[in-house]
Amino acid sequence: MPKHIGIIMDGNGRWASERGLPRTEGHVAGAKVFRRISDYCHEIGIDVVTFYAFSTENWRRPPTEVAALMKLFKENLIEADEIKYDRQKGGYILRFIGDTSAIPNELQKLVSKTQLDAIDENTTVINIALNYGGRQEILHSVKQIAERVERGELKASKITAEDIAAGLYTAGQPDPDLIIRPSGELRLSNFLTYQSAYSELYFSNVLWPDFTTDDLDEAILDYAKRNRRFGGV
Ligand code: FPP
Repeated sequence: MPKHIGIIMDGNGRWASERGLPRTEGHVAGAKVFRRISDYCHEIGIDVVTFYAFSTENWRRPPTEVAALMKLFKENLIEADEIKYDRQKGGYILRFIGDTSAIPNELQKLVSKTQLDAIDENTTVINIALNYGGRQEILHSVKQIAERVERGELKASKITAEDIAAGLYTAGQPDPDLIIRPSGELRLSNFLTYQSAYSELYFSNVLWPDFTTDDLDEAILDYAKRNRRFGGV
């Protein structure tokens, strides 16, 4: 079983167009699938799931679409955070990865205060990549390291790959074992750029609003057949 699954929720616009609906309806349908798949990942015991919800490039979309997406994030995430986390029973906790300074205040308040080391085995961490870009994340980490060097706390020659990983938004979490992209596109689009070095990739033609728990099972079964060598033999 993968410990960490990354999911690029793609194809909402095409799903809506195929039905003669506005693009935003595709996102509404996609949000329902986000919730179903989050629940299912918790049921089957996945530790971490990272959903690509809004990239640093998505601000280029029409303002009405951006506003509709922000509204959807608020509705789904605020409600989910209130309902789903119960320390006794476990559940899932939501975390944001990305530059949250540009997202609406109500959403920023949601950033989980739960420390990762306080998370028990019944809990699934749901990372929502919001205003996220993999290159920007690496840059953010590198700047923090440069500041430590400037302050004389760290020698440039002593910088390690672990230092870079420690400055990423996913610090303390395992790298994604499996990254799933539905909708037929065959690229990662700036998603988990540093963390995906050894991830297994799974592409499918299903559009995200049509993605089911059976599709997730199929991806996990495919992953289970892979031979991961991490550069070894
Ligand atoms: C890409 O499909 C999808 C997005 C940019 C938005 C993803 C957001 C959701 C599914 C909303 C729910 C999420 C949460 C966390 C509540 P696209 O619009 O680029 O599709 P297209 O390629 O068919 O145009």
